[in-house]
Amino acid sequence: MDPHRNDGNAFIDRPTDRSTDRPTAPLIDHPFDESHIGQTELFDNYRMDLRTPNAADLDQFIDDDIVKDWATLTWKDVGKPFRVVNYAEGKRRWEERNGDTLPVHTSWEMFNRSFHELFMKNVPQERAEAKRKLLRNVSSLHWNQAAKVLGELEELTIWNMAHRTEDAIWDPRGKRALFRGLDVDKPRILFLGAADGYEAMQLYSMYPGGEVVLVDYDDFCRTDRFGKFPVHYPFLGVNPSTGAPKVWYREQMNISFLVDDIRNLDFGPEFDIVVSVGLIEHFPEEYKPEAIDWHRKFLKPGGYAILTTPRLQWRSRLFYHVLAEWMNYTYRELMTVQQMGLYLYENGFDILRHGTIKAHNGIIAKVR
Ligand SMILES: C[S@@+](CC[C@H](N)C(=O)[O-])C[C@H]1O[C@@H](n2cnc3c(N)ncnc32)[C@H](O)[C@@H]1O
Repeated sequence: MDPHRNDGNAFIDRPTDRSTDRPTAPLIDHPFDESHIGQTELFDNYRMDLRTPNAADLDQFIDDDIVKDWATLTWKDVGKPFRVVNYAEGKRRWEERNGDTLPVHTSWEMFNRSFHELFMKNVPQERAEAKRKLLRNVSSLHWNQAAKVLGELEELTIWNMAHRTEDAIWDPRGKRALFRGLDVDKPRILFLGAADGYEAMQLYSMYPGGEVVLVDYDDFCRTDRFGKFPVHYPFLGVNPSTGAPKVWYREQMNISFLVDDIRNLDFGPEFDIVVSVGLIEHFPEEYKPEAIDWHRKFLKPGGYAILTTPRLQWRSRLFYHVLAEWMNYTYRELMTVQQMGLYLYENGFDILRHGTIKAHNGIIAKVR
């Protein structure tokens, strides 16, 4: 079957990008339906992946059950996280201009604009252009320019691999492997530091019918990172009336976006799930208990805290090294799932599931 066609839906053939011969992004909002389950396709700025619809088959996308007994694990056993210290030039320039250290909120504003720009890239087109530019500079012996373009090509290559071909950032199958089997019905889900809101949308698709509240204190996340998240991105979840796999889209979900500092939220313990993705590794040791406590504060008794953090592995170190100019505005650690779990365990959580997916560690926990 031609995955670009959705005959029941008056699907329009997509134009083809002549430089790559690949279809550009879909022209209609909901181009995929249940007939596309089992398929994957690479677009110019992301991969759509509707493979492995049955939760029981997701074991291979998570390496879990690494620690047998959290109570006996010590910091001596696991060591401390690795700190990423090669900061973006933009941070240095801001500090020079202002004669001060970059405030945390501003560093997030800079990060979110920069990261969003990566997600918006038409990668094949930009790579083709960079290659042409490189050839021109080499043939006219403009070595400095050529070296600059080589650097751009290297960034594009790493981004292409991390986000498009490997799909390690959104990692829908790894996230589904981590999120499966929760005992919830129409859950209320709170996403702390939501950015584009991706994981809450994946959770909503798997446990539909409830409500998602995204919280981020950078308004750009509301307007752009979440606001402009591709309307045609298909999330693989479940049909609540039949239990069969179903394709969900952002606009079919019950989501609100709150622009506020997590520290100002006046919710009570009213959520079934509190989730954060890439949040606690931005807090140095002495602030971690406070950041972890945010996940407890808004949970109903028996609710699930779901956290992920980037893994300490050579691929992630390469990513933050090559893409430093795009990513490194804030304090950041890379850690192992053992280190992450120990922070949570020591701060009053029982760990129900832990494991590594492509780029992140993932933990499902309950308040002890
Ligand atoms: C590293 S990002 C999360 C990673 C995310 N998955 C992404 O794609 O960028 C962390 C987010 O938390 C937000 N954030 C950090 N501290 C916050 C706070 N105190 N209150 C609200 N949002 C906060 C930042 O604005 C940022 O968008």
